Amino acid sequence: MNILLTGGAGFIGSHIADAYLAGGHQVTILDNLSTGRRSNVPDGAVIVEADIRDQDAVRRVFAASHFDLVNHHAAQMDVRKSVADPIYDASVNILGVLTLLQECVRTGVKRVVFASSGGAVYGEQESFPAEESHPTRPISPYGVAKLTTEQYLFYYHAVFGLNAACLRYANVFGPRQNPEGEAGVVAIFTRKLLAGQKPVINGDGKQTRDYVFVSDVVRANMLVSERTGFQVFNIGTGRETDVNQIFHGIRQAVGSACPEVHGDAKKGEQRRSVLSYALIQKTLGWQPTVMLEEGLSRTVKFFREEAPGRE
Ligand SMILES: NC(=O)c1ccc[n+]([C@@H]2O[C@H](COP(=O)([O-])OP(=O)(O)OC[C@H]3O[C@@H](n4cnc5c(N)ncnc54)[C@H](O)[C@@H]3O)[C@@H](O)[C@H]2O)c1
Repeated sequence: MNILLTGGAGFIGSHIADAYLAGGHQVTILDNLSTGRRSNVPDGAVIVEADIRDQDAVRRVFAASHFDLVNHHAAQMDVRKSVADPIYDASVNILGVLTLLQECVRTGVKRVVFASSGGAVYGEQESFPAEESHPTRPISPYGVAKLTTEQYLFYYHAVFGLNAACLRYANVFGPRQNPEGEAGVVAIFTRKLLAGQKPVINGDGKQTRDYVFVSDVVRANMLVSERTGFQVFNIGTGRETDVNQIFHGIRQAVGSACPEVHGDAKKGEQRRSVLSYALIQKTLGWQPTVMLEEGLSRTVKFFREEAPGRE
């Protein structure tokens, strides 16, 4: 297949690029390198440095090549930034997506894969783990935009026959995750502990998330890339882990004796989040294969080799 992968210079997208290339596909990456890195882009992929909000640039990319599949991972993905500046968030996460989808329809792209977010679209959960039928009550502009994109994809499927798979990720972690900024607690804690610094746990650290390793997320992307229709699947482990446990797991993998340090709780932070993967398991046979401890040890190994002691 000829594939356009947005956000392919980022953490998850670059691993997906590796897998598409290994599968013999042609890959063009569209990324503005705002949080991604050129060094993440694998040999064999073509990179176009452009912003998905730039209609002319996006049109030129679609004019230069006919794509069978668009895999959309580019996003403004900082939840707090979306709260601080919902207009900017929507400009990337809604209007940028529409720019791509209009080009998909215009040029006859058959299929779209979209990186959605389970944690963000469900909001505060009322059942655990959340299935795809759980009420969607996002409590951030980022979550609203992810859900809105899913709904646009349903519309494009119903009206234009564009096939679409929305993957609602849990908290993805692994090598190449960006340890800058606020998101990605595993990368942030790993970097700090390797540098001999003390990571700060927000509040009591009992807030839970579902941590899924990046290679499992990539496998889900490969499975849905061949499908037709419109689907929404959770991609998680069904296992709830709190931040204190994450801290201790990384501390053990690093071999550090750093004490647990707690700071103020972050206002509005979700308390619990965990996703059921029963639907994609039943439909496509996907299940997580890399357990948390193994994933943490692979992540620590990556950061140790890539960025020893970097600030
Ligand atoms: N990491 C997670 O736990 C997680 C969970 C749920 C959903 N997601 C989604 O998965 C996708 C990838 O996330 P990630 O963790 O790899 O983050 P990332 O920041 O590493 O990747 C995002 C990529 O998009 C690019 N980008 C951002 N804005 C752009 C724009 N306007 N135009 C072109 N490129 C742009 C960035 O440069 C970066 O390479 C995002 O859509 C994110 O919302 C991630």
